[in-house]
This record gives sequence, structure tokens and C-alpha cells, in this order.
Amino acid sequence: MKYHIITYGCQMNTADAEEMAQPLAGRGFVSTEHLWDADIVLMNTCTVRDQAEHRADSNIGRLRKWKDADPHRILIIAGCAASRWGDSIRQKYPFIDLVSPATQIEQFPEAVAQVLKERWNWEAETRASFEEGKERRREEEISSSLPPYFTSSPFGSETTAYVTIMRGCNYSCSYCIVPQVRGREVYRPMPQILEEIRQKTTRGHKDVMLLGQTVNSYHDRDHGHPLDFADLLQEVSAIESVEEVRFMSPHPRYMKERVIDAMKYSAKVARHVHLPAQSGSSRVLDRMQRLYTREDYLVVIKNLREAIPNILITTDIIVGFPGENDADFEQTLSLLNAVQFNGLFAFKYSPRPGTASASLENDIPSDVKEDRLQKVLALNTAIKKAEHMAAH
Ligand code: SAH
Ligand code: SF4
Ligand code: F3S
Repeated sequence: MKYHIITYGCQMNTADAEEMAQPLAGRGFVSTEHLWDADIVLMNTCTVRDQAEHRADSNIGRLRKWKDADPHRILIIAGCAASRWGDSIRQKYPFIDLVSPATQIEQFPEAVAQVLKERWNWEAETRASFEEGKERRREEEISSSLPPYFTSSPFGSETTAYVTIMRGCNYSCSYCIVPQVRGREVYRPMPQILEEIRQKTTRGHKDVMLLGQTVNSYHDRDHGHPLDFADLLQEVSAIESVEEVRFMSPHPRYMKERVIDAMKYSAKVARHVHLPAQSGSSRVLDRMQRLYTREDYLVVIKNLREAIPNILITTDIIVGFPGENDADFEQTLSLLNAVQFNGLFAFKYSPRPGTASASLENDIPSDVKEDRLQKVLALNTAIKKAEHMAAH
């Protein structure tokens, strides 16, 4: 029995996909990179921007051919868009066997057991009858071409272990759909996290990526004295089999002295931090409900650079948020100049249903958004080029 995983979105989704593969691997099923070889497809979707959701939706449509070729096959739709769609996606695509929202990762093993029982009568099914079906599927494969995006490796880097330390998000950044589709924050107990890291780093992974939506707000109050993210960084660094520790995504509000010190004093913590700014205008940041100003953000950058002079800093920027005028946008460009980021991801604002900013008029015309996006990307390229010249 083979399964094929398609995962979109952020590292959190990649980590979830790895977790969801466990009940399949535990039954002796093996992973395949080839869609047409698979008995089960698990698609882990993203909905952070309209385009991401649209991509998942249209690729489900494209799986109809795979499913029609052998009705024995099982299609599972999981992740953040699945949370938003709920069962309505099965009305649109009745060939879906299971919808498993991002909020239900812990219930996934039961859900998958149920579907295997219902669809395959798994306990009674013999391997031989499946092998027969496989021959039919191979013939099908010859007559069908494989879209390139179905072949990428599902679990990120081979050397990095992704470790989720918290789920959900308690913030309410006005543009963001994540709290809605991932639910309230849940922190994993520190001993459990450390055990997972020990296991993964003795099984071949060397580096560790700690994952959470506001990863540095991590705390564990249930084990002796209260522990926070700085404690976790130290504990992870103390594990001998760990070579490097990274984390995604910290929130500027929690980039406090203790965390910066923990980074500074552990040689294993990567000299890189991805610290999403979103905008350089305090007025826009306020409307985004980011809970910091431009000045607060710059103080965090200053503290990081003072403590760790060679640190690389990257960021996320949103352009075209409702009401972002030319002066606000200039502030974003000036933030890029002030910080001299080593890299960034820039996005055009996309209104998401049910978020606070969705009720604001999406008033920045799309050509202005595009123009601002290009300006951000061009400035970043220029900054990186100047850096490169200075270094040589
Ligand atoms: N939890 C992370 C971000 C998760 S979403 C954090 O708080 O930093 C990843 C990135 O997508 C965000 O940093 C933001 O830049 C972008 N993003 C989120 N919602 C968006 C929207 N509605 N339109 C455009 N970009 C968005
Ligand atoms: Fe979204 Fe803000 Fe939470 Fe990040 S902190 S996931 S941007 S609501
Ligand atoms: Fe997308 Fe969900 Fe990550 S919406 S960006 S996969 S948290």
C-alpha cells in the first residue's frame, strides 16, 4: 500500500503532514513520490491568501482523474483550507473520502482508521487483491502525465527535523485567517518536545526547526517552575545530537532580552532570525493589530544586532493593506533601508473571509499593489547586492 503526500503552505503544514503520515506508515504503508502509484493521497492545504486556497481547490479538481482510474483509492483533504471549507468541499468534489481540518491533527489517526475500515474494509482486505488493482493503475499511469508540483518532497530538508512546539494562535492580526483555521494556542509540554528532538536527532536529522505561529511566546507552566522559550532554546542546545537550532516564526513582542541572550550564549542557535515586520508604518501596524510600532520593531533589531553582531535578519512584508497610502508605503521602504534585511518575503494583501480587515474596503487597486510589491523586491535586491559588494 502506498501513499502520496502533497503539502502546501508553511513549515507548520509540512510538520503536520509528517505527523499525519504516521498512522499510514504505522500500518506498513510506504510513501511514494508518484501520484499514479499511490493508493492514498493526502493533500495538506493552505488558505493564508486567496491564491493559496485557489491552488489547493483547483488541484483537488485535477485529482478527479486519479480517483476515477481506481475507485479503491482514498483521497484525504487536510490542513488550513480544509478547516475553512469543512464538508462543503465534499459537496463540490464528492470523490473526496475524508476532510480533516488543521484543528484536528490529534484526532487524525482515528479518522484515518475509520475511513480505511469503511472504504477498504481494511481488516479483511488481502494484499493480493490490491496488487491486482495496482496493475490496472500502472496502465493508467502510462496514459496520464504527472504535473510537476505533485512530485516535490513532502517533509522539507533531509537534515532538519521539524518540531511543532505550539499549535494555533491567540493573536488577531486583522488580515490573518490563521487563528480561525488553526484555533487557540496549545503549548506542548517541554519534556515531550525534548524527547521528540532526541529521537529525531539520533535517527539522522542534525538540525532542529522549532515551529509555532508565535514561536517565542512558548511557555510550559506544568513542569516544576514556569519555563519559557529561552529555557527551551537552552535545553534543546544542550542535547548532544543537535547541531543547529532554528525557529519560525517569532513575534517581535516576545523578542525580549532573555530570548536574545539564550540565542547569544548558545553556539548551536543559528545566527539567523526571521522576524516578520509586515509594514514600516506605525499607522498601518496599528490597523493590522500587530501590537508593536515601527520604533518598537527597530529597538528589537538594534538589541539583536548588539547582542549578535553577525546575525542575519529576514522578514515578511504585506503591501496594499486597506488604507495604506503613499506615505505609509514610503515608511515600509524606509524600514527596509534602516534594517538592511538579508532577505524577505513580500505579499500583496489578500482579504480573507471572517478576518477583521475583510470588513474594511480593499481599496488599494491591484496595479498599485503590484507596483509596491515590485518596489519592495527591487529595494531588497539592491540592499543584498550592496551587502555582497561590501563583503568582497
Ligand atoms: N505567524 C506568523 C505568520 C503566518 S502567515 C507571524 O505572525 O509572523 C505568513 C505570512 O503571510 C505573514 O507573515 C504575512 O506576511 C502573510 N500574510 C498573512 N495573511 C495575509 C493576507 N491576508 N494577505 C497577504 N499576506 C498575508
Ligand atoms: Fe496570523 Fe498574527 Fe497569529 Fe501570525 S501572529 S498567525 S500573522 S494572527
Ligand atoms: Fe497556510 Fe495554514 Fe501555514 S494557512 S501559511 S498552511 S498556518
